[in-house]
Amino acid sequence: MIPLARPAFGPEEEAAVAEVLRSGWVAQGPTTARFEKEFAAEVGTKHAVATSSCTTALHLAVIAAGVGPGDEVVLPSFTFPATANAVIYAGATPVLVDVERASLNVDPDRVEEAITERTRALLGVHLFGAPCAIERLASLARENGLFLIEDAACAIGTRIGNRPAGSFGDVACFSLHARKVVTCGEGGLIVTDDDELADLLRSLRTHGVDRDAEVRHAKGAAPPAARYVRLGYNYRLSDVQAAIARIQLARLGEFVEERNRIARRYDAAFADLDGLRSPPAVETGTHSYQSYVAVVEREAPMEPDALRAALAARGVSTRVGTYAVHREPYFESLFGERSLPVTEEAARRSIALPMFNGMAEDDLETAVRAVREVWQKNPATH
Ligand SMILES: Cc1ncc(COP(=O)(O)O)c(C=O)c1O
Repeated sequence: MIPLARPAFGPEEEAAVAEVLRSGWVAQGPTTARFEKEFAAEVGTKHAVATSSCTTALHLAVIAAGVGPGDEVVLPSFTFPATANAVIYAGATPVLVDVERASLNVDPDRVEEAITERTRALLGVHLFGAPCAIERLASLARENGLFLIEDAACAIGTRIGNRPAGSFGDVACFSLHARKVVTCGEGGLIVTDDDELADLLRSLRTHGVDRDAEVRHAKGAAPPAARYVRLGYNYRLSDVQAAIARIQLARLGEFVEERNRIARRYDAAFADLDGLRSPPAVETGTHSYQSYVAVVEREAPMEPDALRAALAARGVSTRVGTYAVHREPYFESLFGERSLPVTEEAARRSIALPMFNGMAEDDLETAVRAVREVWQKNPATH
């Protein structure tokens, strides 16, 4: 079976883990601090705060935005449920809006319509590594006095023009999960330019510790007792994970280039398949292709589920793109049944194809051939 995704780990990652194990410091420590500096430099922000996942990063971002009960945060419904859950963790209401048909990213016109006097923050998602209309969201946030969070879970290596995704929001959250471009299995980061926010995020990540006390603790031979000044969490990344992530981050340029090469091969192979829509190429910027997600249009010769089943039978793994969050049972139980037609269509008709670094040419050609053959065996009936 050709997998959907597979981390590209090699001897350098193994050596980095061995070094941390031998050092005796495996919890969060100096390796994480180094990784945070390198990550901030990559995204072009002053600070990066490593966390245990992007979900926990989003939770802290929502708290840092001052969001609480009675507040609303506007975000796309076509996303992973974690984006909306982070808002619910803070006791606030996620206001789910529709996406653009072409990009599958949040539609900024729908965001603008959804802003009310209860709105406290906007949450833009760069889905699958494709840049969303973040400049437009930044203007809306500025005009309305709102906090802007970027969910850049899939977007390390993504650029809007020449500017990295994650450098537009008040804060941005990244994922290091196994299906992401840079991975250490599980992990995340929040980036920001704001010194006070960075201090708050570091405190929240470590049980609500007083930051000054924590710094003194790190330096002193007989450190003073820490003070706990707010409700906090244990949302830390370990140095074992950071050691892997540092090596991966150094390979980011190479990773994104390879993913773009695979995407161009898929695009070219599907160009003459009527009804199979490739993700639109990014003209002024960079798509990181965390996932390659095509859409099986209504006029296609077959339904998306039938295509996925036929590909599985030929040894090619696929997944749905992502979810119509407002139609998932938990969210329907909270907010009732609503209709967001573009999101619903995207959730039903999107298909993620194998995309990972180190994908063998033979596997890529097998995947391409499988899609073409299945498609051509099913002549259009419309
Ligand atoms: C858009 C988006 N946001 C958030 C997350 C959550 O990331 P993590 O698994 O690191 O918690 C994901 C995970 O796939 C995602 O795709």
